[in-house]
Amino acid sequence: MTKTHVIIVAAGRGSRFGGDMPKQFRMLGDRPVLMETIIGIGRALPRAEITIVLSAEFVAFWERCCESAGFVSPRVVTGGDTRWESVKNAIEAIAPSDDSYVLIHDGARPVVKADMIKRIMSALDAGATAVVPAVPVTDSLREISDTGGDSHAFDRSRVVAVQTPQAFRGDVIRKSYTLPYDSAFTDDATVCEAAGFGSPVIVEGSPVNLKITRPRDLEIAALFLR
Ligand code: CTP
Ligand code: MG
Repeated sequence: MTKTHVIIVAAGRGSRFGGDMPKQFRMLGDRPVLMETIIGIGRALPRAEITIVLSAEFVAFWERCCESAGFVSPRVVTGGDTRWESVKNAIEAIAPSDDSYVLIHDGARPVVKADMIKRIMSALDAGATAVVPAVPVTDSLREISDTGGDSHAFDRSRVVAVQTPQAFRGDVIRKSYTLPYDSAFTDDATVCEAAGFGSPVIVEGSPVNLKITRPRDLEIAALFLR
C-alpha cells in the first residue's frame, strides 16, 4: 500500500459566500461543512493520513466544534492569504516522501464520492504523476474579446471544469511548491505544470462534487448528501 496523504484546505475567508463565519464552518445538516468533507474523505480513503489547513484565527473555534461533536480532528496546519500559500504550508509540514501520494482537496467540497476517488487512485497506481478530476461543461460557451466589446461561440467540447481532489506523487508536488508564487496558480495542477511536470492525467470527476461558493450551494449540497 502506497502511503497516501490528503491535504484539505480550509483557510479561506469565503468572501463570495459572505457573512462573518467562513463557509467551511457553516452547518450542513447537523455538522459543519468541513467536518462532512473530512468524513467523506475518510470513508473513501480509510488508511490515508489527513491534514487540514485552517486560518490561525479559526483554530480555537474549530477545536470547540470538534469537542462539542465528539469528533477527533485530523492534524491542523495554519494557512496563508492565498490557497497556494495554504497548500504550501501543508506540504512543508507533511514533507511527503518521493513515492507517496498526495491528494489536495477543497474543504468547501463536502460531497465526496468514493467512485471518483477510486478513479484518481487508479490513475496514480498506473503511473500518473499528476491527476485531475474534471466534468464536461453543459452550458454553451462564448469567448469575450479583449476589449469586451464582442464575443464568439466557443466549442464546449474543448473544455472541462476542473474539481478536487487533485492528486500527485510526493516528489512532484514537493518540488512544484518550491516555485515562487504566481497569480495564475489557481489550482495545484497548474503549479505542477509551471514546474515542468507536464499536463495532468484527467479522470472523470463527479457531477455532485460542487464547491460551496454562495449560500444557495449549501442547500444543493444538503440535497446531494441525502
Ligand atoms: N483556501 C485556503 N486558503 C486561502 C484561500 C482558500 O485554504 N487563503 C481554501 C478555501 O477554504 C476553500 C478552497 O481553498 O476550501 C477553495 O477556495 P475558495 O472556494 O475560493 O474559497 P475562499 O477563498 O474561502 O472563498 P472566496 O474566494 O469566495 O473568498
Ligand atoms: Mg478563493
